Amino acid sequence: MAYKIAIIVGSLREGSLNRKVARSICGIRGDNLDCSMIEIGDLPLYNQDLDADPPEQWVRVRDQVRAADGVLFVSPEYNRGVPGVLKNAIDVGSRPYGQSVFDKKPAAIVTASPGSIGGFGSNHQIRQACVFLNMPVMQQPEAYLGHVSEDSFDGSGCLKDGPLKELVATLAHAFHDWVDMIIRSRAALAEDAAHSAQQKKAEKEHA
Ligand SMILES: Cc1cc2nc3c(=O)[nH]c(=O)nc-3n(C[C@H](O)[C@H](O)[C@H](O)COP(=O)(O)O)c2cc1C
Repeated sequence: MAYKIAIIVGSLREGSLNRKVARSICGIRGDNLDCSMIEIGDLPLYNQDLDADPPEQWVRVRDQVRAADGVLFVSPEYNRGVPGVLKNAIDVGSRPYGQSVFDKKPAAIVTASPGSIGGFGSNHQIRQACVFLNMPVMQQPEAYLGHVSEDSFDGSGCLKDGPLKELVATLAHAFHDWVDMIIRSRAALAEDAAHSAQQKKAEKEHA
């Protein structure tokens, strides 16, 4: 079964390295991850005053994330933190209060940078938001992809063979397994709960 994955990329740059990494993850697990890129560049800045009559772009993004089985964040680091455009998308999806489209969605976070620490700061700021948003976030493998450059990709934008591609492949497989484990565990728990509710009802009827 292919899981629907909403991919949110924290860079709007046309030649974004992070977007290429995101595409590579989809390519590697295309059999089991049905990936859609969620475009966030046109989202008006979050403003709580607009919650009663939200802009259509907010509604579109909220619907797209709601329809997904899991969320994959792939982002650069800006000034040791999460790029504003991604933080805005997270804020938009998290509201109105109590109606967050991120709630309970399994997630993974990948950060890529030409720098040596691979967007560590940004990665953990995104993780912090995910914890608050009640998203089970994949712990391993951690994905701080450092020293990523144009040279990491071939002419069609795919990762060239090498350690980076191997790490990304490990990650893509682990993310599939993470989403699978969470979705199947929830289904099993729901089945158990339905079964025990039925048993209790039957016991009451025969009491
Ligand atoms: C505003 C800004 C801030 C940046 N800050 C960092 C940073 O803190 N750490 C880092 O590793 N790279 C930083 N960079 C460099 C980015 O990692 C690099 O431009 C990268 O290619 C951006 O990702 P993208 O290719 O997906 O657009 C920064 C770039 C910009 C434009």
